[in-house]
Amino acid sequence: MARLNHHFLKLSAGYLFPEIARRVASFEKECPDLAPRVIRCGIGDVTEPLPRAAVEAMRAAVDEMGARDTFRGYPPATGHDFVRHAIAEGDFRSRGCDISPDEIFLSDGSKPDASAILEILGDGIRVAVADPVYPVYVDTNVMAGHTGAALTGADAGRYAGILYLDTGAADGFVAAPPSAHADIAYLCFPNNPTGAVATRSQLQAWVDWAHRQDAILIFDAAYEAYITDPAIPHSIYEIPGAREVAIEFRSFSKVGGFTGVRAGYTVVPTSLLASSIDGSRHPLHALWSRRWATCSNGVSYPVQRGAEALYSYAGRAQCRALVEFYLENARLLSSSLREAGLRVFGGVNAPYVWATCPDGLTSWQAFDLILRELQVVVTPGSGFGRCGEGYFRVSAFNSRENVLEVGARLKTLARTSVASR
Ligand SMILES: Cc1ncc(COP(=O)(O)O)c(C=O)c1O
Repeated sequence: MARLNHHFLKLSAGYLFPEIARRVASFEKECPDLAPRVIRCGIGDVTEPLPRAAVEAMRAAVDEMGARDTFRGYPPATGHDFVRHAIAEGDFRSRGCDISPDEIFLSDGSKPDASAILEILGDGIRVAVADPVYPVYVDTNVMAGHTGAALTGADAGRYAGILYLDTGAADGFVAAPPSAHADIAYLCFPNNPTGAVATRSQLQAWVDWAHRQDAILIFDAAYEAYITDPAIPHSIYEIPGAREVAIEFRSFSKVGGFTGVRAGYTVVPTSLLASSIDGSRHPLHALWSRRWATCSNGVSYPVQRGAEALYSYAGRAQCRALVEFYLENARLLSSSLREAGLRVFGGVNAPYVWATCPDGLTSWQAFDLILRELQVVVTPGSGFGRCGEGYFRVSAFNSRENVLEVGARLKTLARTSVASR
Protein backbone atom coordinates (compact mmCIF):
# COMPACT_ATOMS: atom_id res chain seq x y z
CA MET A 1 0.00 0.00 0.00
CA ALA A 2 1.25 3.53 -0.76
CA ARG A 3 2.57 5.35 2.29
CA LEU A 4 1.18 8.71 3.30
CA ASN A 5 3.19 11.59 4.68
CA HIS A 6 2.91 10.61 8.34
CA HIS A 7 3.84 14.11 9.50
CA PHE A 8 0.32 15.22 8.47
CA LEU A 9 -1.06 12.92 11.16
CA LYS A 10 0.66 15.03 13.83
CA LEU A 11 -1.38 18.10 12.91
CA SER A 12 -3.59 19.06 15.79
CA ALA A 13 -4.13 22.56 14.46
CA GLY A 14 -6.59 23.49 11.73
CA TYR A 15 -8.89 23.54 14.70
CA LEU A 16 -9.41 27.29 15.11
CA PHE A 17 -11.50 28.37 12.12
CA PRO A 18 -13.57 25.14 11.88
CA GLU A 19 -14.31 25.46 15.61
CA ILE A 20 -15.40 29.10 15.15
CA ALA A 21 -17.66 28.03 12.27
CA ARG A 22 -19.09 25.18 14.38
CA ARG A 23 -19.94 27.47 17.31
CA VAL A 24 -21.50 30.12 15.05
CA ALA A 25 -23.58 27.49 13.22
CA SER A 26 -24.79 26.02 16.49
CA PHE A 27 -25.71 29.47 17.86
CA GLU A 28 -27.62 30.32 14.66
CA LYS A 29 -29.52 27.04 14.89
CA GLU A 30 -30.33 27.57 18.54
CA CYS A 31 -31.39 31.23 18.11
CA PRO A 32 -32.70 31.57 14.54
CA ASP A 33 -34.26 34.97 15.32
CA LEU A 34 -30.79 36.37 16.18
CA ALA A 35 -28.99 34.68 13.27
CA PRO A 36 -29.53 37.58 10.82
CA ARG A 37 -27.83 39.93 13.32
CA VAL A 38 -24.55 37.99 13.29
CA ILE A 39 -21.61 40.05 11.96
CA ARG A 40 -18.34 38.28 11.25
CA CYS A 41 -15.10 40.04 12.25
CA GLY A 42 -13.19 36.80 12.56
CA ILE A 43 -11.41 36.00 9.32
CA GLY A 44 -8.91 38.41 7.77
CA ASP A 45 -10.50 38.59 4.33
CA VAL A 46 -11.00 41.92 2.57
CA THR A 47 -14.47 43.22 1.70
CA GLU A 48 -13.93 46.21 -0.62
CA PRO A 49 -13.73 45.97 -4.44
CA LEU A 50 -10.46 45.93 -6.35
CA PRO A 51 -8.66 49.18 -7.23
CA ARG A 52 -9.87 50.47 -10.62
CA ALA A 53 -6.32 50.51 -11.99
CA ALA A 54 -6.02 46.74 -11.42
CA VAL A 55 -9.46 46.02 -12.89
CA GLU A 56 -8.67 48.00 -16.05
CA ALA A 57 -5.23 46.44 -16.45
CA MET A 58 -6.58 42.91 -16.04
CA ARG A 59 -9.43 43.62 -18.50
CA ALA A 60 -6.98 44.97 -21.08
CA ALA A 61 -4.74 41.92 -20.54
CA VAL A 62 -7.64 39.55 -21.17
CA ASP A 63 -8.36 41.43 -24.43
CA GLU A 64 -4.70 41.04 -25.42
CA MET A 65 -4.98 37.30 -24.81
CA GLY A 66 -8.05 37.21 -27.06
CA ALA A 67 -6.25 38.57 -30.13
CA ARG A 68 -3.74 36.59 -32.24
CA ASP A 69 -1.16 39.40 -32.41
CA THR A 70 -1.03 40.02 -28.68
CA PHE A 71 -1.75 36.53 -27.35
CA ARG A 72 0.77 35.21 -24.78
CA GLY A 73 1.39 31.63 -23.70
CA TYR A 74 3.34 30.40 -20.68
CA PRO A 75 4.74 33.25 -18.64
CA PRO A 76 8.25 33.05 -17.14
CA ALA A 77 7.98 30.86 -14.01
CA THR A 78 9.15 33.63 -11.69
CA GLY A 79 7.16 36.49 -13.24
CA HIS A 80 7.36 38.81 -16.24
CA ASP A 81 10.09 41.45 -16.19
CA PHE A 82 7.54 44.27 -16.22
CA VAL A 83 6.09 43.28 -12.84
CA ARG A 84 9.40 42.33 -11.22
CA HIS A 85 10.82 45.73 -12.22
CA ALA A 86 7.75 47.55 -10.88
CA ILE A 87 8.10 45.68 -7.56
CA ALA A 88 11.86 46.18 -7.19
CA GLU A 89 11.47 49.89 -7.86
CA GLY A 90 8.20 50.51 -6.01
CA ASP A 91 8.76 48.45 -2.86
CA PHE A 92 12.53 48.41 -2.41
CA ARG A 93 14.72 50.82 -4.38
CA SER A 94 12.39 53.71 -3.59
CA ARG A 95 13.03 52.90 0.10
CA GLY A 96 16.79 52.65 -0.38
CA CYS A 97 16.84 48.81 -0.31
CA ASP A 98 19.27 47.10 -2.62
CA ILE A 99 16.95 44.53 -4.21
CA SER A 100 17.04 43.81 -7.92
CA PRO A 101 14.21 42.51 -10.16
CA ASP A 102 15.85 39.08 -10.50
CA GLU A 103 15.64 38.64 -6.72
CA ILE A 104 11.82 38.95 -6.89
CA PHE A 105 9.82 35.74 -7.41
CA LEU A 106 6.17 36.36 -8.27
CA SER A 107 3.68 33.80 -6.92
CA ASP A 108 0.02 33.21 -6.25
CA GLY A 109 0.35 34.49 -2.68
CA SER A 110 2.26 34.34 0.57
CA LYS A 111 0.51 31.31 2.00
CA PRO A 112 1.66 29.08 -0.89
CA ASP A 113 5.14 30.66 -0.63
CA ALA A 114 5.30 29.90 3.10
CA SER A 115 4.83 26.26 2.25
CA ALA A 116 6.98 26.14 -0.90
CA ILE A 117 10.02 27.78 0.70
CA LEU A 118 10.47 24.72 2.92
CA GLU A 119 11.17 22.65 -0.21
CA ILE A 120 14.58 24.30 -0.54
CA LEU A 121 15.53 23.99 3.14
CA GLY A 122 17.07 20.82 4.53
CA ASP A 123 15.78 18.15 6.90
CA GLY A 124 16.16 18.48 10.63
CA ILE A 125 16.16 22.25 10.79
CA ARG A 126 15.22 23.91 14.07
CA VAL A 127 12.50 26.50 13.68
CA ALA A 128 11.74 29.44 15.97
CA VAL A 129 8.34 31.15 16.01
CA ALA A 130 6.81 33.81 18.23
CA ASP A 131 3.75 32.93 20.29
CA PRO A 132 1.07 34.14 19.36
CA VAL A 133 1.83 33.04 15.79
CA TYR A 134 0.22 32.99 12.33
CA PRO A 135 -0.52 29.22 12.38
CA VAL A 136 0.67 28.61 8.80
CA TYR A 137 4.34 28.90 9.85
CA VAL A 138 3.88 26.09 12.35
CA ASP A 139 1.66 23.77 10.32
CA THR A 140 3.83 23.93 7.18
CA ASN A 141 6.84 22.92 9.25
CA VAL A 142 4.89 20.07 10.83
CA MET A 143 3.92 18.85 7.33
CA ALA A 144 7.55 19.11 6.20
CA GLY A 145 8.69 16.93 9.11
CA HIS A 146 10.65 19.64 10.92
CA THR A 147 8.93 18.99 14.25
CA GLY A 148 8.19 16.20 16.65
CA ALA A 149 4.77 15.17 17.86
CA ALA A 150 1.99 17.46 19.07
CA LEU A 151 2.47 18.11 22.78
CA THR A 152 -0.13 17.61 25.48
CA GLY A 153 -0.94 18.95 28.93
CA ALA A 154 0.38 22.45 29.64
CA ASP A 155 2.02 22.45 26.19
CA ALA A 156 -1.13 21.43 24.27
CA GLY A 157 -1.26 23.18 20.89
CA ARG A 158 2.54 23.16 20.61
CA TYR A 159 4.89 20.75 18.82
CA ALA A 160 8.08 19.15 20.03
CA GLY A 161 11.18 20.53 18.36
CA ILE A 162 9.87 24.06 17.68
CA LEU A 163 11.42 26.90 19.64
CA TYR A 164 8.49 29.03 20.82
CA LEU A 165 9.28 32.61 21.79
CA ASP A 166 6.67 33.78 24.27
CA THR A 167 5.46 37.34 23.85
CA GLY A 168 2.91 39.39 25.75
CA ALA A 169 1.73 42.83 26.76
CA ALA A 170 5.02 43.52 28.58
CA ASP A 171 7.13 43.29 25.40
CA GLY A 172 4.41 44.68 23.14
CA PHE A 173 4.10 41.23 21.49
CA VAL A 174 7.53 41.57 19.85
CA ALA A 175 9.85 38.62 20.50
CA ALA A 176 13.51 39.29 21.22
CA PRO A 177 16.08 36.99 19.59
CA PRO A 178 16.59 33.89 21.76
CA SER A 179 19.86 32.84 23.35
CA ALA A 180 19.19 29.33 22.00
CA HIS A 181 20.07 28.36 18.44
CA ALA A 182 17.54 28.05 15.63
CA ASP A 183 18.20 27.61 11.92
CA ILE A 184 15.11 29.51 10.80
CA ALA A 185 13.16 32.23 12.62
CA TYR A 186 9.82 33.56 11.42
CA LEU A 187 9.10 37.25 11.91
CA CYS A 188 5.75 38.77 10.96
CA PHE A 189 5.47 42.56 11.12
CA PRO A 190 2.98 44.20 11.17
CA ASN A 191 1.83 41.15 13.05
CA ASN A 192 -1.12 38.90 12.50
CA PRO A 193 -2.80 38.46 14.98
CA THR A 194 -1.57 41.13 17.45
CA GLY A 195 -1.06 44.11 15.11
CA ALA A 196 2.38 44.71 16.70
CA VAL A 197 5.22 46.27 14.72
CA ALA A 198 8.97 45.95 15.26
CA THR A 199 11.24 48.97 15.50
CA ARG A 200 14.43 49.38 13.50
CA SER A 201 16.57 48.45 16.52
CA GLN A 202 14.48 45.35 17.26
CA LEU A 203 14.88 44.21 13.65
CA GLN A 204 18.59 45.00 13.74
CA ALA A 205 18.89 42.74 16.79
CA TRP A 206 17.28 39.92 14.79
CA VAL A 207 19.55 40.44 11.79
CA ASP A 208 22.61 40.44 14.09
CA TRP A 209 21.33 37.28 15.80
CA ALA A 210 20.89 35.55 12.42
CA HIS A 211 24.50 36.42 11.49
CA ARG A 212 25.78 35.07 14.81
CA GLN A 213 23.69 31.90 14.61
CA ASP A 214 24.17 31.33 10.88
CA ALA A 215 20.38 31.34 10.73
CA ILE A 216 17.83 32.54 8.19
CA LEU A 217 15.03 35.00 8.96
CA ILE A 218 11.75 34.55 7.15
CA PHE A 219 10.20 37.99 7.28
CA ASP A 220 6.50 38.12 6.43
CA ALA A 221 5.53 41.67 5.47
CA ALA A 222 2.00 40.88 4.23
CA TYR A 223 0.68 43.96 6.08
CA GLU A 224 3.51 46.47 5.45
CA ALA A 225 1.15 48.86 3.64
CA TYR A 226 -0.64 49.42 6.97
CA ILE A 227 2.39 50.97 8.65
CA THR A 228 1.52 54.56 9.55
CA ASP A 229 4.51 55.31 11.81
CA PRO A 230 7.31 56.70 9.58
CA ALA A 231 10.00 55.31 11.91
CA ILE A 232 8.92 51.68 11.39
CA PRO A 233 10.72 49.75 8.61
CA HIS A 234 8.52 48.29 5.86
CA SER A 235 11.06 45.73 4.71
CA ILE A 236 13.73 43.67 6.47
CA TYR A 237 16.12 44.89 3.75
CA GLU A 238 16.01 48.36 5.30
CA ILE A 239 18.20 46.79 8.00
CA PRO A 240 21.96 46.61 7.29
CA GLY A 241 23.15 43.00 6.92
CA ALA A 242 19.69 41.61 6.03
CA ARG A 243 20.62 40.70 2.45
CA GLU A 244 22.85 37.91 3.80
CA VAL A 245 20.31 36.41 6.21
CA ALA A 246 16.71 37.16 5.21
CA ILE A 247 13.95 36.04 2.89
CA GLU A 248 10.90 38.31 2.65
CA PHE A 249 7.30 37.42 1.80
CA ARG A 250 4.98 40.04 0.36
CA SER A 251 1.33 39.70 -0.60
CA PHE A 252 -1.01 41.81 -2.73
CA SER A 253 -3.97 40.44 -0.76
CA LYS A 254 -4.33 43.19 1.82
CA VAL A 255 -2.78 46.15 -0.02
CA GLY A 256 -4.67 45.69 -3.30
CA GLY A 257 -7.62 43.55 -2.21
CA PHE A 258 -6.15 40.55 -4.11
CA THR A 259 -7.32 37.79 -1.72
CA GLY A 260 -9.47 36.39 -4.54
CA VAL A 261 -7.20 37.41 -7.45
CA ARG A 262 -4.15 35.71 -5.85
CA ALA A 263 -0.72 37.26 -6.20
CA GLY A 264 2.28 37.90 -4.00
CA TYR A 265 6.01 37.45 -4.17
CA THR A 266 9.07 36.29 -2.28
CA VAL A 267 12.43 38.07 -2.21
CA VAL A 268 15.46 35.80 -2.11
CA PRO A 269 18.67 37.86 -2.36
CA THR A 270 21.54 36.36 -4.32
CA SER A 271 23.78 36.98 -1.27
CA LEU A 272 21.80 34.60 0.98
CA LEU A 273 23.68 31.31 1.49
CA ALA A 274 22.81 28.06 3.24
CA SER A 275 25.00 25.06 3.89
CA SER A 276 24.81 21.62 2.35
CA ILE A 277 25.33 18.38 4.32
CA ASP A 278 29.01 18.40 3.32
CA GLY A 279 29.36 21.90 4.82
CA SER A 280 29.74 23.71 1.49
CA ARG A 281 27.75 26.92 1.16
CA HIS A 282 25.38 27.67 -1.71
CA PRO A 283 23.09 30.56 -2.69
CA LEU A 284 19.44 29.75 -1.98
CA HIS A 285 18.56 31.98 -4.94
CA ALA A 286 19.72 29.26 -7.35
CA LEU A 287 17.67 26.59 -5.58
CA TRP A 288 14.57 28.78 -5.44
CA SER A 289 14.91 29.59 -9.17
CA ARG A 290 15.24 25.87 -9.90
CA ARG A 291 12.25 25.07 -7.72
CA TRP A 292 10.10 27.56 -9.64
CA ALA A 293 11.30 26.38 -13.04
CA THR A 294 10.42 22.78 -12.16
CA CYS A 295 7.28 23.14 -10.09
CA SER A 296 5.41 26.07 -11.63
CA ASN A 297 4.50 27.78 -14.87
CA GLY A 298 4.01 31.07 -13.12
CA VAL A 299 1.15 33.43 -12.43
CA SER A 300 -1.51 34.18 -15.05
CA TYR A 301 -0.70 37.07 -17.39
CA PRO A 302 -3.81 39.18 -16.55
CA VAL A 303 -3.04 38.86 -12.83
CA GLN A 304 0.55 39.99 -13.44
CA ARG A 305 -0.76 43.06 -15.29
CA GLY A 306 -3.17 43.68 -12.41
CA ALA A 307 -0.30 43.50 -9.91
CA GLU A 308 1.85 45.82 -12.05
CA ALA A 309 -1.02 48.34 -12.14
CA LEU A 310 -0.95 48.61 -8.33
CA TYR A 311 2.39 50.41 -8.78
CA SER A 312 1.06 52.96 -11.29
CA TYR A 313 0.34 56.50 -10.12
CA ALA A 314 -3.41 55.83 -10.01
CA GLY A 315 -2.93 52.34 -8.57
CA ARG A 316 -0.87 53.61 -5.67
CA ALA A 317 -3.45 56.25 -4.79
CA GLN A 318 -6.25 53.68 -4.95
CA CYS A 319 -4.32 51.19 -2.76
CA ARG A 320 -3.63 54.00 -0.28
CA ALA A 321 -7.35 54.82 -0.13
CA LEU A 322 -8.18 51.14 0.43
CA VAL A 323 -5.66 50.81 3.24
CA GLU A 324 -6.83 54.10 4.82
CA PHE A 325 -10.39 52.82 4.74
CA TYR A 326 -9.49 49.67 6.71
CA LEU A 327 -7.26 51.65 9.08
CA GLU A 328 -10.18 53.95 9.87
CA ASN A 329 -12.23 50.82 10.60
CA ALA A 330 -9.44 49.71 12.95
CA ARG A 331 -9.49 53.09 14.72
CA LEU A 332 -13.27 52.91 15.20
CA LEU A 333 -13.10 49.35 16.57
CA SER A 334 -10.19 50.20 18.88
CA SER A 335 -11.98 53.17 20.37
CA SER A 336 -15.15 51.13 21.03
CA LEU A 337 -13.12 48.41 22.76
CA ARG A 338 -11.38 51.05 24.89
CA GLU A 339 -14.76 52.51 25.78
CA ALA A 340 -15.74 49.03 26.95
CA GLY A 341 -12.80 49.23 29.35
CA LEU A 342 -10.54 46.74 27.55
CA ARG A 343 -6.83 47.06 26.95
CA VAL A 344 -6.26 47.38 23.22
CA PHE A 345 -3.19 46.62 21.08
CA GLY A 346 -2.55 46.90 17.35
CA GLY A 347 -4.98 48.64 15.00
CA VAL A 348 -2.62 51.59 14.34
CA ASN A 349 -0.06 50.07 11.97
CA ALA A 350 -2.16 47.01 11.19
CA PRO A 351 -5.70 45.98 10.24
CA TYR A 352 -6.03 43.81 13.36
CA VAL A 353 -7.14 44.96 16.78
CA TRP A 354 -6.05 42.76 19.68
CA ALA A 355 -7.84 43.19 22.98
CA THR A 356 -7.85 41.70 26.47
CA CYS A 357 -10.90 39.63 27.33
CA PRO A 358 -13.33 41.26 29.77
CA ASP A 359 -13.40 40.18 33.42
CA GLY A 360 -10.53 37.73 33.11
CA LEU A 361 -12.48 35.46 30.77
CA THR A 362 -10.57 32.97 28.63
CA SER A 363 -10.43 33.62 24.89
CA TRP A 364 -13.15 31.06 24.11
CA GLN A 365 -15.37 32.29 26.97
CA ALA A 366 -15.07 35.84 25.57
CA PHE A 367 -15.77 34.51 22.06
CA ASP A 368 -19.00 32.83 23.28
CA LEU A 369 -20.07 35.90 25.26
CA ILE A 370 -19.51 38.25 22.31
CA LEU A 371 -21.30 35.86 19.94
CA ARG A 372 -24.26 35.12 22.19
CA GLU A 373 -24.82 38.57 23.69
CA LEU A 374 -23.69 40.84 20.86
CA GLN A 375 -23.90 38.58 17.79
CA VAL A 376 -20.37 39.51 16.75
CA VAL A 377 -17.83 36.88 15.67
CA VAL A 378 -14.26 37.57 16.79
CA THR A 379 -11.20 35.30 16.79
CA PRO A 380 -10.11 33.81 20.12
CA GLY A 381 -6.49 34.74 20.82
CA SER A 382 -5.69 31.29 22.19
CA GLY A 383 -6.15 29.92 18.66
CA PHE A 384 -2.82 31.60 17.79
CA GLY A 385 -0.89 30.00 20.64
CA ARG A 386 -0.98 29.78 24.39
CA CYS A 387 0.34 33.36 24.81
CA GLY A 388 -2.83 34.48 23.03
CA GLU A 389 -4.95 33.13 25.90
CA GLY A 390 -6.96 35.94 27.52
CA TYR A 391 -7.10 37.98 24.29
CA PHE A 392 -9.28 38.15 21.19
CA ARG A 393 -8.68 39.58 17.71
CA VAL A 394 -11.08 41.80 15.80
CA SER A 395 -10.48 42.20 12.08
CA ALA A 396 -10.94 45.64 10.50
CA PHE A 397 -11.67 44.06 7.13
CA ASN A 398 -15.35 44.86 6.88
CA SER A 399 -17.81 47.38 5.44
CA ARG A 400 -18.07 50.72 7.29
CA GLU A 401 -21.69 49.96 8.03
CA ASN A 402 -20.76 46.70 9.77
CA VAL A 403 -17.86 48.30 11.63
CA LEU A 404 -20.10 51.08 13.00
CA GLU A 405 -22.65 48.52 14.12
CA VAL A 406 -20.00 46.23 15.65
CA GLY A 407 -18.40 49.24 17.38
CA ALA A 408 -21.74 50.25 18.91
CA ARG A 409 -22.29 46.70 20.17
CA LEU A 410 -18.76 46.25 21.50
CA LYS A 411 -19.03 49.43 23.57
CA THR A 412 -21.64 47.64 25.67
CA LEU A 413 -19.32 44.72 26.37
CA ALA A 414 -18.45 45.74 29.94
CA ARG A 415 -22.16 45.99 30.81
CA THR A 416 -22.94 42.76 28.96
CA SER A 417 -20.22 40.72 30.62
CA VAL A 418 -21.29 41.86 34.09
CA ALA A 419 -24.97 41.18 33.33
CA SER A 420 -24.29 37.72 31.95
CA ARG A 421 -22.40 36.52 35.03
C1 LIG B 1 0.73 37.04 8.14
C2 LIG B 1 0.12 36.56 6.88
N1 LIG B 1 0.90 36.10 5.90
C3 LIG B 1 0.39 35.63 4.76
C4 LIG B 1 -0.99 35.60 4.54
C5 LIG B 1 -1.53 34.98 3.28
O1 LIG B 1 -1.44 35.85 2.23
P1 LIG B 1 -1.89 35.45 0.78
O2 LIG B 1 -3.32 35.87 0.63
O3 LIG B 1 -0.96 36.21 -0.12
O4 LIG B 1 -1.73 33.97 0.60
C6 LIG B 1 -1.84 36.09 5.51
C7 LIG B 1 -3.30 36.06 5.29
O5 LIG B 1 -4.11 36.28 6.12
C8 LIG B 1 -1.28 36.56 6.72
O6 LIG B 1 -2.06 37.01 7.70
